[in-house]
Amino acid sequence: MEKKLTREEAKKRIEWLRKEIWRHNYLYYVLNKPEISDEEYDKLMEELRRLEEQFPEFITPDSPTQRVGAPPAKEFKTVRHVKPMLSLDAVHKEEEIRAFDRRVKKELGVENVEYAAEPKLDGLSVELIYEDGRYVRGSTRGDGVNGEDVTENIKTIRAVPLVLRDEEIPLPKMLAVRGEVIMHIKDFEELNKELIQRGEEPLANPRNAAAGSLRRLDPNETAQRPLDIFFYEIMHVEGDGIKIETQWEALQALKKWGLKINPLAKLCKNIEEAIEYHHEMEKKREMLDYEIDGVVIKVNHLDYQEKLGAKTRSPRWAVAYKFPPRKEETQILDIVVGVGRTGILTPVALLKPVDVKGVTVSRATLHNEDYIKEKDIRIGDWVRVARAGDVIPEVVEVIKEKRTGKEKEFRMPKRCPVCGSHVVKEGAYYRCTGGLSCPAQLKRSIEHFASKNAMDIEGLGGKTVELLVEKGLIKRISDIYRLTKRDLLHLPRFAEKSAKNLIEAIEKSKNKGLARLIFALGIPNVGEHTARILAEKFKSIDRLMNATEAELLAIKEIGPETASSIVNFFREERNRKEIEELKKLGVKMEYEEEKGKLKGKVFVFTGALKDFTREEAKELVEKEGGIVANSVSRNVDYVVVGEKPGSKYEKAKELGLKIIGEEEFKKLLGIEKKEEKEEERGKILTLDEFIKMKRNTK
Ligand code: IVH
Repeated sequence: MEKKLTREEAKKRIEWLRKEIWRHNYLYYVLNKPEISDEEYDKLMEELRRLEEQFPEFITPDSPTQRVGAPPAKEFKTVRHVKPMLSLDAVHKEEEIRAFDRRVKKELGVENVEYAAEPKLDGLSVELIYEDGRYVRGSTRGDGVNGEDVTENIKTIRAVPLVLRDEEIPLPKMLAVRGEVIMHIKDFEELNKELIQRGEEPLANPRNAAAGSLRRLDPNETAQRPLDIFFYEIMHVEGDGIKIETQWEALQALKKWGLKINPLAKLCKNIEEAIEYHHEMEKKREMLDYEIDGVVIKVNHLDYQEKLGAKTRSPRWAVAYKFPPRKEETQILDIVVGVGRTGILTPVALLKPVDVKGVTVSRATLHNEDYIKEKDIRIGDWVRVARAGDVIPEVVEVIKEKRTGKEKEFRMPKRCPVCGSHVVKEGAYYRCTGGLSCPAQLKRSIEHFASKNAMDIEGLGGKTVELLVEKGLIKRISDIYRLTKRDLLHLPRFAEKSAKNLIEAIEKSKNKGLARLIFALGIPNVGEHTARILAEKFKSIDRLMNATEAELLAIKEIGPETASSIVNFFREERNRKEIEELKKLGVKMEYEEEKGKLKGKVFVFTGALKDFTREEAKELVEKEGGIVANSVSRNVDYVVVGEKPGSKYEKAKELGLKIIGEEEFKKLLGIEKKEEKEEERGKILTLDEFIKMKRNTK
């Protein structure tokens, strides 16, 4: 093993390691010429991490080890950009780009203009600020003037250097740089696979995935997402010895500072070369591992840019020259209906297979009934299908000239094509009401049924549910209670102990009471809070099952949408049957008066509490029969305000709700008094111990 370093030696080694790691990052991300293998790189990181652990006094915020670990934010702060982050006007045709060039030349009074051209990335625009070469802030574009502070989230992107290089060009005192955060197509596909496996909705396209991933309140979640970035514009720079006169020089400077630019950028001598570049990139597009939807053409000279100026939202010196969408003509052979995991029915066009730029397309989503009506799509129609960055192709238009009169109109079915339950219309969507018995919704229904706040069956999560459904052991909700230890022992994931634990957890869940059961049924629009109210009002599942819409609407907290969801759910014979089955299998459906001093009281938290995490506070409220809601509404009894409260606080004031601080909250729970009592008895508990004790004695 290595010898133990002295403090001084460690400091030196740490500094060397950091420099070396940043150098390899630069070689890998910016120059695309790595000198070492991933394993060797990991070794350097590992050594640095170890030394920093031993000598934490040497940790600095810009150390490459410090990308992750920031705590989750309550909400994003708003920050003002150094100057407005403009958008771009888009053009689609060659004449339009020539007209742009003519306007530019006329305005400048010159014969010819050079352009810097780059791929237009389909991602999310961000601003990064470096002070004295150190990364200090990152924000999303927002409305262009103000954005969201996502400093910690951006820090987790590996291609973002936390310190700039000064080997070839002096460090700027201040640099504001704009770039685009993207997700590579293969990472996006991988992520979607994972999401589907976990029972979550897949994301529509890499851009949404990048935006959603960057804007996680918990930066540690962003860190798990494979994001990348390209930089393309200096918004502001200050510093001695830095002279940048063109966009092209700006790109080279960014690169020298270690900020990755797009290697496909090109300096074009005139508009002809820029048009040529557009064609080249359109061909290249299919080979790239990230999405681009056009090229951006920017006047190269910055003094020309300044002269041309900007309109409110877009500059006069740049334009997005978009690619035509990837479209092909084909025929709709039939329209079928798929049922999603949430019971939503989606019409899908079955197409005569057609190649859309390298991908054979034989199905396209038609979204919903309104979409079909609006575009007047009929079975037998000739249509254009497009793949516009999205993985799921779309029918963009009907070629009406090709109609023969034999085309057939499509109607949404009245019964679910998967389980035969009734279908109801909710806004633009149709939903299958057979939530408890529809195989299309089964995995999701079970996961929800077993989840912590519902029947709380520990061990019955994503992967296990998947396995049980796939092996045919669970075909409907009630099958959960038919599982035996023997069944489980035949499965790959289970051994004696884990099988025993799951069976016990299932058994225990039979006595969770009416409120949890109602929530567990997964009736659309019925959350925990509504479920409790229903349990309290109706006191038995049978009475709730037979409630009329009018009876439900008489309850203050229940609106028309929820009332009709409930009625529709229980009208479905298949659901009623499942509930009967559950009853027969021993699931208790009686209402037990809840005890506790906060019975039925609704709490909302905003801002950070000093002595509890949100989870702890929620647990304490619920132990006393209270309810914690996520958003402020008139139904809320107490709004507990901690440090740096968010917009909920303002809203609570507007609604005139009761607002209390942490101390008062503790009083409501009786925490202070108890603490004193404990002290009287000569035993002083820390708050943590107290919470633990309270949990155990309840
Ligand atoms: S330059 C004032 N260059 O496209 C000009 N923008 O439709 C600033 N975009 O909001 C933008 N790739 O998010 C520029 N190479 C590129 C780009 C690019 C993608 C985005 C950017 C902008 C949007 C405008």
